[in-house]
Amino acid sequence: MSATPVPDRRTFAIISHPDAGKTTLTEKFLLYAGALAEAGSVKARTGRRSATSDWMEMEQKRGISITSTVLQFPYRGVVCNLLDTPGHRDFSEDTYRVLAAVDAVVMVLDSAKGIEPQTLKLFEVCRLRKLPVLTFLNKYDRPGREMLELLDEIEREIGLRPTPATWPVGISGDFRGVIDRRTGEFVRFTRTVRGQSIAPEELVDPEQAAAEEGRAWDDALEGAGLMEAMGADVDPESFLAGESTPVFVGSALTNFGVRLLLDAVIDLAPSPVPRADVNDEVRPLDADFSAFVFKVQANMDPAHRDRIAFARVCSGTFERGMDATCHRTGKPVSTKYATTVFGAERDTVELAHPGDVIGLINAQGLRIGDTIYAGEPVEFPGIPRFVPEVFASARPLDTGRTKQFRRGLAQLDEEGVVQVLRDPDGGETDAVLAAVGQLQFEVFAHRLASEFGAPTEMLSSPYQAIRVTDAPTALRLRGVSGVRVLRRDNGELVALFENPYRLQRLHNDEPDLVLRPLLTTTSDN
Ligand code: G4P
Repeated sequence: MSATPVPDRRTFAIISHPDAGKTTLTEKFLLYAGALAEAGSVKARTGRRSATSDWMEMEQKRGISITSTVLQFPYRGVVCNLLDTPGHRDFSEDTYRVLAAVDAVVMVLDSAKGIEPQTLKLFEVCRLRKLPVLTFLNKYDRPGREMLELLDEIEREIGLRPTPATWPVGISGDFRGVIDRRTGEFVRFTRTVRGQSIAPEELVDPEQAAAEEGRAWDDALEGAGLMEAMGADVDPESFLAGESTPVFVGSALTNFGVRLLLDAVIDLAPSPVPRADVNDEVRPLDADFSAFVFKVQANMDPAHRDRIAFARVCSGTFERGMDATCHRTGKPVSTKYATTVFGAERDTVELAHPGDVIGLINAQGLRIGDTIYAGEPVEFPGIPRFVPEVFASARPLDTGRTKQFRRGLAQLDEEGVVQVLRDPDGGETDAVLAAVGQLQFEVFAHRLASEFGAPTEMLSSPYQAIRVTDAPTALRLRGVSGVRVLRRDNGELVALFENPYRLQRLHNDEPDLVLRPLLTTTSDN
């Protein structure tokens, strides 16, 4: 047991639909925490990062961020770990894995648009994991939708009870400040040039607010009063249970409301809690070191050409160079090259605590979902894999590059870029690739070509549904047209169906067949 007290942490992610303002808000958090002297440099970093990697070149071209970055900054004496989630129109398992490593989420909505399809899917994952969600209604400096309408949408679409922590003074497009409903104060904001520096805030008492803001103040009081009458006050208990969401109004661009939101990350979001192992026994935070791998990525930077396993510390203190073991293999894990990654820039990590993320460079043999530990052995539940929704097959364009293709396929499978379903009787080129979104296939093909020198042709697959099956059912399905039986990397047999109606019919006609849906919450380890 380590005797040192566990330092306080907030480990969270910002999720949003593309363009809602995630990058801007991330940058403003860094500005308010004093980690950036002036806003505008995160994008510059992104530019530089993209220039150093052809994989990231693709990110830049498409204006998306595929790789996740972990940003660490202190704020009010607490170390914040902000895990960046890839933001793109398409779904990717990568985002879901990041959500397995955080304790809370900030959801950014564009207040002119409300809930968009991508956001909805992400929230389902948050709800499934009972992750506490703070909501930021962004872009209130521009004309947008009514507060009540937005709140209603959050409740209706996501099933999270919105509890406004702040209420806007002035309508969207003429945004003057907010009432902090928890204190009753009017916080008036002042614009700064291009939002590059912290927006001055003025605390105004109600009388002065009424005199100076007139109608805007009266309307805001009415709105806030309505919330009170409805009992929609911030409720830490139901927030932590993932049932209600404190709502903040603001504008990341002009920095309005950013401090109040960042303060809420410290005041409302939870510090790391002890994690339960596969036997549902809790490993205390001050127990021996333990962590789980939620992301594995090779060739992040061609200058390094290495492989990094990202692990979230669950208990104890990580010390660089310490002895650690991978539970699945029973083998030692090299901790000599531990790093944090900020874009392409790496810093060595000497010490890490529960809630922190460490990047282990060239820790061979580590896979997503692996538990690593020191001292008393422990195994945490694996990271859920998601039910694939799209299928494809791939073949090398140049048959002379088959070896490279195979190597790439194995590596990208291990990283979880796509799920590889193998034909028990066939070779690698017969494999079917499965993913939650098309983008995963694009990343897969791009990386095969650029990192493994195996340009690849992606062929669409006709399959529309997937079920877990067993050997006797697999035998029965052999002769059925439009059905194929394959094996997942965990050894499980799965049946793919071209036609969901055929699946339905088989279900009805032969109820004894084993055709189980894949569960989003199962562990693959
Ligand atoms: P994302 O990471 O969620 O995709 O969004 P990002 O922060 O890149 O923001 C998308 C666009 O929305 C950017 O404009 C950004 O400046 C703008 N934006 C973000 N927050 C606010 C806000 O509070 N108010 C207003 N009015 N706009 C906001 P862009 O034109 O695409 O990029 P840029 O040229 O401004 O960098």
